[in-house]
Amino acid sequence: MKVISSLKEMTLFSKKASAKGSIIGFVPTMGYLHEGHLSLVRRAKKECNVVVVSIFVNPSQFGPKEDLAKYPRDLKRDLALLRPLGVDVVFYPQAKVMYPFGCAAYVDIGGNLTKKLCGAFRPVLFKGVTTIVAKLFNIVLPSKAYFGQKDAQQCVVLEKMVKDLNFPLQVVTLPTVREKDGLAMSSRNSYLAPDERKDAAVIYKSLMLARQMIKKGVRSSIKIKSAMIKELNTVKHIELQYISIVKAETLEDLKTLSGEIIIALALKIGKTRLIDNIRLKL
Ligand code: PAF
Repeated sequence: MKVISSLKEMTLFSKKASAKGSIIGFVPTMGYLHEGHLSLVRRAKKECNVVVVSIFVNPSQFGPKEDLAKYPRDLKRDLALLRPLGVDVVFYPQAKVMYPFGCAAYVDIGGNLTKKLCGAFRPVLFKGVTTIVAKLFNIVLPSKAYFGQKDAQQCVVLEKMVKDLNFPLQVVTLPTVREKDGLAMSSRNSYLAPDERKDAAVIYKSLMLARQMIKKGVRSSIKIKSAMIKELNTVKHIELQYISIVKAETLEDLKTLSGEIIIALALKIGKTRLIDNIRLKL
């Protein structure tokens, strides 16, 4: 497994691999890897000849009061997790190499897609994500890129970017990997104190409650959201940011549920912001 920090070297590697007919699978990450990331790597390994994983905590997707400085980082641990999976390259650029002149050119998906749900609470998030992912695609030149459904809005936004800007690659979205009690795996779970970690299980419980109601035939968005809020309120110190029930492909709000839907929520437990969602076909 090679660790490459130079942009030129990364692109040269990819060009050589492509020239040999290799399909390059790419897993962009911010490191501090967990089983969710590893499931993407395993899938990439199955579907591609060459697998590149990037580790880059992207400053442009963090707001000024967000957790950029304290975002967990542990390269040694990440490399030890990736090595046994047969990863070919870990792309590990420095911020000053990725953004040598700051960033004057951005990729920004207009309209409502990036302004709602998480975008309403993290206004720079998606502009930062689309910009860095576009840069990474241009450097790594993958045929397939893998993302986790836990970041449901990110997946929809990136699909839109790839389509609208004609990136010659396929976006693959894979299911959320969960802890035993249902908590979605996230690098940010490491911020949770033990009592907060216990409380965090209520997120998945509320999503399962929604799923149960839908199974029983409930189709009213308001009814489902109210029941979820009641469930979430069984735990103290939760600050709900949003619960949204939306069309899976467009993230349009739904009053009455039908078709493919996503039920997504974001909340804070103490100082830690967590997100989760489920996707259902009605
Ligand atoms: O999902 C993430 O970890 C990040 O948003 C991504 C896609 C690696 C871009 O920095």
